[in-house]
Amino acid sequence: MKLKLTTPRLRLRPWLPSDRAPFAALTADHEVMEHFPTTLTRAQSDALADILANEIAEQGWGFWAVEVPGVSDFIGFVGIHEPRFELPISPCVEIGWRIAKEHWGKGYATEAARAALAVGFEQLGLEEIVSFTVPTNQRSQRVMQRLGMVHADEFFDHPALEAGHPMRRHILYRLRRDAWRAAQAE
Ligand SMILES: CC(C)(COP(=O)(O)OP(=O)(O)OC[C@H]1O[C@@H](n2cnc3c(N)ncnc32)[C@H](O)[C@@H]1OP(=O)(O)O)[C@@H](O)C(=O)NCCC(=O)NCCS
Repeated sequence: MKLKLTTPRLRLRPWLPSDRAPFAALTADHEVMEHFPTTLTRAQSDALADILANEIAEQGWGFWAVEVPGVSDFIGFVGIHEPRFELPISPCVEIGWRIAKEHWGKGYATEAARAALAVGFEQLGLEEIVSFTVPTNQRSQRVMQRLGMVHADEFFDHPALEAGHPMRRHILYRLRRDAWRAAQAE
């Protein structure tokens, strides 16, 4: 498995200790975390960075750190990952992203996600990759739609959130390998 991926503008790479500070700034930003239950403290952010770094180091794929050479050493993460919680759709592999606000609106998330999909479908041989978020997270859904992912009126309640929590309901998108391959051939 290739630990590093490159796209025309980006490098998806293993996490570095120097990513922790900019990641903590991103996870403490209320706008970036608007669609999550809370922002993270420095300790919570470092703990998450460790989990994601270990996943890449151990299995060779996961939520990669994203660098924009010549622009920024770390803008956030994009990648594919097995959800840590047992979901109604488990077992599954999700694609996900979290980018610092100053780097939104440039197409970086979609560009990185395309590279991650190629790893999932062509190197790991996955038949399907899913993505999910709260229904109000339109920006994230636009990334899913740009990738060709499809929402077929499927929703689920996230088990990490208690009944009645306003963010419990999640909207689900799916992308099958066959559909992805067909789009590559167009
Ligand atoms: C979700 C998130 C990654 C989307 O970021 P984004 O910058 O909107 O998405 P992309 O990187 O795909 O960029 C697409 C935008 O860049 C624009 N763009 C500008 N230059 C571009 C280029 N060269 N190529 C492609 N798109 C470009 C597109 O027009 C598009 O704008 P639009 O959506 O207003 O039409 C970002 O908002 C984020 O990190 N949010 C917080 C974390 C989060 O919610 N994560 C998901 C939880 S499930």
